[in-house]
Amino acid sequence: MAKIAILPGDGIGPEIVAEAVKVLKVLDLPLEMETAPVGGAAYEASGHPLPDATLDLAKSADAVLFGAVGDWKYDKLDRPLRPEQAILGLRKHLGLFANFRPAICYEQLTHASSLKPELVSGLDILIIRELTGDIYFGQPRGRRTAVDGHFPGADEAFDTMRYSRPEIERIAHVAFQAARKRGKRVTSVDKANVLETFQFWKDIVTEVHAQYPDVALDHMYVDNAAMQLVKAPKKFDVIVTGNMFGDILSDAAAMLTGSIGMLPSASLDKNNKGLYEPSHGSAPDIAGKGVANPLATILSAAMMLRFSLNQPQAADRIESAVGAVLSAGLRTPDIWSEGTQKVGTREMGDAVVNAIAKTTKGITKS
Ligand code: IPM
Ligand code: MN
Repeated sequence: MAKIAILPGDGIGPEIVAEAVKVLKVLDLPLEMETAPVGGAAYEASGHPLPDATLDLAKSADAVLFGAVGDWKYDKLDRPLRPEQAILGLRKHLGLFANFRPAICYEQLTHASSLKPELVSGLDILIIRELTGDIYFGQPRGRRTAVDGHFPGADEAFDTMRYSRPEIERIAHVAFQAARKRGKRVTSVDKANVLETFQFWKDIVTEVHAQYPDVALDHMYVDNAAMQLVKAPKKFDVIVTGNMFGDILSDAAAMLTGSIGMLPSASLDKNNKGLYEPSHGSAPDIAGKGVANPLATILSAAMMLRFSLNQPQAADRIESAVGAVLSAGLRTPDIWSEGTQKVGTREMGDAVVNAIAKTTKGITKS
């Protein structure tokens, strides 16, 4: 019996996670699910965004299904108490250094993309974002007053961008191995023309590449990568990059697929234990309205079955079912277009459940 920690979080988190849980249940697998509060919800309940009990549950589970955290109302709290610290803490404490963010454009949604259909039709790229290093976690960081500041007479704030050799090596291996299973091309995104950290990144990725002669490697500056993503996104296969560049590029890539509400993600440790979450945030503006798109979370549950729970056929069933409901014309407002049927969060989840119930085990993508 595999144990899954269910951490719904804030904003639309509980609504979308509820739909993914329904989908997992209909698959009738030997799964035990245990729910715990995280983010702002946990802060309200116990004064901390990542309570020990929640962290312990996540550590003891075989996989974590995570919703989203954050709300503007917590912006004034001290940083360690803000909801975002929960996801950052989980990533760090669980050693989840490898973040997979696939950007796949479903044929049915090519018209929902902000780019011309021919630019995104058939799009299938994989962003691999390093998740536990870089400027997100580098020390020292902080604020200081004018007295010892670097700009005479002014207060200042600072963060530290840094990467160590093993951190870059391990994510480079993940990227080359992932590329081997698909288009066999890796684009390493850096800012080596300006930053020492990313010259080091580029050198080490190049070194590791020597072990993968069957995979093509090219390097691209992050500004150019941002441009290429909106100019000719299909040129990419696997993109590997640092924590901050990956954060930014993956949002841009998500939008190519029609909506960030479609984009799942997996964050893995060295043993493929993982945390699975939609790439989007908590969207407090639409929370509680029943209109959020649950598909990114449902697709994250599919990734969980494939990567951490060794249930690839169950993952296929979820993905086929999502394809079937899209083909049937069901759309949450974020992906709605003329001629399709607008549905809410729960109806979308129910439709996926029904589509799964209709399939038999082992059916592949429709
Ligand atoms: C993401 C989010 C997080 C990040 C925030 C909520 C800390 O934007 O998962 O992309 O910046 O990593
Ligand atoms: Mn982000």
